[in-house]
Amino acid sequence: MNIKSLLATSLLCLGFFSSGLPPEEGMYPLSELNRVDLKKAGLRISQEDIYSTTGKSSLVDALVNVGGCTGSFVSAQGLIITNHHCAFAAVQQASTPEHDYLNKGFVARGHEYEIEAKGLTCRITESYEDVSDQVLGAASQISDPASRLAVINNAMKHLAIEAEKRDPGIKAEVSEMFIGKTYVLFRYRIIRDVRLVYVPTRSIGEFGGETDNWVWPRHTGDFSFMRAYVGKDGKPAAYSKDNVPYRPKKFLKVNPAGTNEEDFVFILGYPGRTFRHRPADFISYQQNYLLPYTADLYEFENKAMEAAGKKDAATALRLATRIKRNANVMKNYRGKLQGLQGIGLINDKRKEDADLAAFIEKNPALKSRYGTLMTDINTLYKLIYSDAGRDMWLGQIYNSTSLLKVATTINGFKTELAMQTGGSRQNWFNDRLPALKKELDNIYSSFDAEADRRIFGRMLADASALPQNQRIAPVDRLMGAKTGQGADQLAGKLITESKLAERGAVLEDVLKSPDRLLALKDPLLDFARETDQLIARLKPEKDRRDGLLNKLMGDYVNVKEQFMKRSFIPDANSTLRLTYGYVRGYSPADATYMKPYTTIAGIFEKGASGNPDFVYPPQIKARWQAKDFGAFAKKDLNDVPVAFLYNMDTTGGNSGSPIMNADGELIGVNFDRAYGATINDYAWNEKYSRSIGVDIRYVLWVAQKIDQADFLLREMGIRI
Ligand code: ARG
Ligand code: ASP
Repeated sequence: MNIKSLLATSLLCLGFFSSGLPPEEGMYPLSELNRVDLKKAGLRISQEDIYSTTGKSSLVDALVNVGGCTGSFVSAQGLIITNHHCAFAAVQQASTPEHDYLNKGFVARGHEYEIEAKGLTCRITESYEDVSDQVLGAASQISDPASRLAVINNAMKHLAIEAEKRDPGIKAEVSEMFIGKTYVLFRYRIIRDVRLVYVPTRSIGEFGGETDNWVWPRHTGDFSFMRAYVGKDGKPAAYSKDNVPYRPKKFLKVNPAGTNEEDFVFILGYPGRTFRHRPADFISYQQNYLLPYTADLYEFENKAMEAAGKKDAATALRLATRIKRNANVMKNYRGKLQGLQGIGLINDKRKEDADLAAFIEKNPALKSRYGTLMTDINTLYKLIYSDAGRDMWLGQIYNSTSLLKVATTINGFKTELAMQTGGSRQNWFNDRLPALKKELDNIYSSFDAEADRRIFGRMLADASALPQNQRIAPVDRLMGAKTGQGADQLAGKLITESKLAERGAVLEDVLKSPDRLLALKDPLLDFARETDQLIARLKPEKDRRDGLLNKLMGDYVNVKEQFMKRSFIPDANSTLRLTYGYVRGYSPADATYMKPYTTIAGIFEKGASGNPDFVYPPQIKARWQAKDFGAFAKKDLNDVPVAFLYNMDTTGGNSGSPIMNADGELIGVNFDRAYGATINDYAWNEKYSRSIGVDIRYVLWVAQKIDQADFLLREMGIRI
């Protein structure tokens, strides 16, 4: 360890920080930026430069939400930088065994070669406005929890529709910042034509694969470039050859000099979900039910899909995105489980909740309002635990088994079709058929019959083992009392007897005419219908619980803020946030210290292990041996930095977020967290919370030296 990091760690242990203020837990919404002194923390530009309240262009205008990820504009021509894994599904859809962009990478050396990024749109935040009073005002007189929640949801929807009417060019959305407490209306611009520009080869973009996912030290070149297009009139439009590159209000300056240890850095992005302000019972549900159930199921699903993928390259491609998503969630959940147990969060929360209950008890005014709050929460969660198995099963059945998803989609269509009478039926059918076909096509694009059979078999076996109060009617009908026995054969039988396994037969034959579709009898359609009937039967109770939770969680945060004498920062909810911190290593375990930068040399170390996840392109070795670092070496490392660590507060959705320096220039792209930081979502801590980004120097080095994409560097204004 060098002197600097030694100093940094010892200061850390004393609770001091070598630069600026200690970073706080926090994904700050734009409306809360005034709560932090970013100048003091190290920012050299003004807060107005980040988000302007006077309509001037600011960094926020360069940010996009692309798919579930974040990206940012880095040229006047609508060029976007984000992660490789954020482009993955779109690249998969554009790939065939002949044009295998997914494995070989893709460089469009001219706008005309760029490929449509299917399924991706870009969302730009234009403005926001607090609408809590309108939303909660609408519900203030209603005491029944389910009706109250329905009114809240209605008000949210309504306010959005009104805003869109006032400004037809935008998409409006009301986001719940604190459950049952604070609501903000966001106005977004949506760009619908997004294209792939440059995706490095998979052995760079996904180097380390699942072995290294959620792990530091990391050597993944997890970046890609896309471009946003709009109609000739400058307005968002669906994909068309005639569209032109979008001219963003603002694009980020890319600074090829990168960072040094302890530099101030910040991120703007769209983090998805966190759960920092929840009671012990909520954490207990996660730890004891949801996380282990989901992780185990996904592990099984992946085994089935990986086995199926061995058949041929086309099947492997078809299943690649599903496998990757499952693997990502599975490892994240196992990381969370380890972390939750490690820090004993449930016990801490129980203690907090008990202190909170005592606080309420001591204060007569609070007692009269919140006297039953903590016991109400506990009672509700006991109920939730009591049928968690069925609830989780119903939550997974359609995602797990593709043909059941096909079945429920067709059933929904059939039901509506049957309601059309006389001559209008054919018209209704003709109008809606293309959308239905598209939806089904999408499901079939990642379907494999053998994988489906095994997964369906597992779901049947799981359902047949549920306790008496949680039975799944269609499973009981088929399996009777045979717990688990014969589930596999039964799944195979249903799939063989079903027409749905034949994509061609469904799309061309079954959907030929309304009559043919209405006459269709199918065992999987029956199964899905009964499952949906069960879901419908349980819905009123589910609505009641959701309504109650909404009220209780609002009250919980209210009273906890009073107890702790501070106002919280709202949990992540896919709205634009800022987080800041420092480039910094950490000590994840006794006697270890993790440095904050990795280098190209580390790629070869990992490569030597023989693990196929660590195969890298030979050009990397050749360029590196020739010391051909171009302008991108970090002097003290005498190498190109690949990835780096920082103590910011990030979560899923922050992938692809620009990492910026004190001057608001892009110096990296966020893509992951260290294993211990997977529990960020429940509890952030400077000690274990580290996020991982790909260093801009590596991005530019790969683009220039490996893929000869100098044109992109020029487009970003980088002199080479
Ligand atoms: N763990 C990162 C994130 O949650 C990267 C995911 C890339 N996917 C993967 N399966 N390796 O999204
Ligand atoms: N990899 C995540 C994403 O895709 C980021 C994270 O969870 O840290 O958003």
